[in-house]
Amino acid sequence: MIFQNPTRLASLFTILAMVYLAAPFTLEYRLYSLHPIGMGLFIAASITAALTLQRSDQQSKHPQSRKSSVVTHAGLQIAALLGLLVGFAAIYQNKINKGKKHFQTYHSYGGLALFIGALSVSILGICMHFFPTQVFGTLLKSKRYLSIKRYSGLALLTITVYTTALGLISHSTQERISALARLIIFLITLGSTTLAFWNTFFEYSKGSSDLDLDDYEAVHELK
Ligand code: HEM
Repeated sequence: MIFQNPTRLASLFTILAMVYLAAPFTLEYRLYSLHPIGMGLFIAASITAALTLQRSDQQSKHPQSRKSSVVTHAGLQIAALLGLLVGFAAIYQNKINKGKKHFQTYHSYGGLALFIGALSVSILGICMHFFPTQVFGTLLKSKRYLSIKRYSGLALLTITVYTTALGLISHSTQERISALARLIIFLITLGSTTLAFWNTFFEYSKGSSDLDLDDYEAVHELK
């Protein structure tokens, strides 16, 4: 049941918050509108993708169940990347059209770091899942990158909260969404990210969600 599962509940609230954020922009036909719409998709899909892998119950260690979580995670990350690419290209081109300089604000520094970081972590994930032996030599060596991927993912979530907060106080958002709604959207983003941190540091430390090499191999054999 979704209401008994905090990670699913957090995913649901994050998706609803981002739909609310993007909704006013979908009513306008401007290049700029694609920025908050694309980034809303990125934020909702990337946070949900992180939470999808964070089930700490014993079932999450079962290779078949783990495999389905990895497939969902990968699908959501592809949707997130698509949103990021569209959102980034839209704001970049919009600035060119308006003759404005690029990367002049704290929001844009965070956005650029996120853009480069999310692309890099996604490439690492693709190599680990689809080409582990070709890229890393052995499955064991590829598994060593799990913690790098996990902690860099959390670092990216932190930058996501920071960049979203600055996006929410931008003039264009203030014009369309009330202060209370923007505060709620921010608190939901912060809350679901905090849950992802909590899962990693407190739930994973119980060892229940970490795969040993046999399980890791089994997940790959199921491909
Ligand atoms: C976490 C997701 C987001 C990322 C990665 C991101 C990324 C960026 C980047 C890289 C720029 C600068 C582009 C350039 O200088 O050529 C930018 C600008 C901008 N973004 Fe975002 N953004 C995000 C979310 C949002 C949201 C949610 C809003 C508002 C609804 C928003 C509103 C703006 C505005 C108004 C600008 C132009 C002013 C400025 O450069 O600060 N962004 N964004």
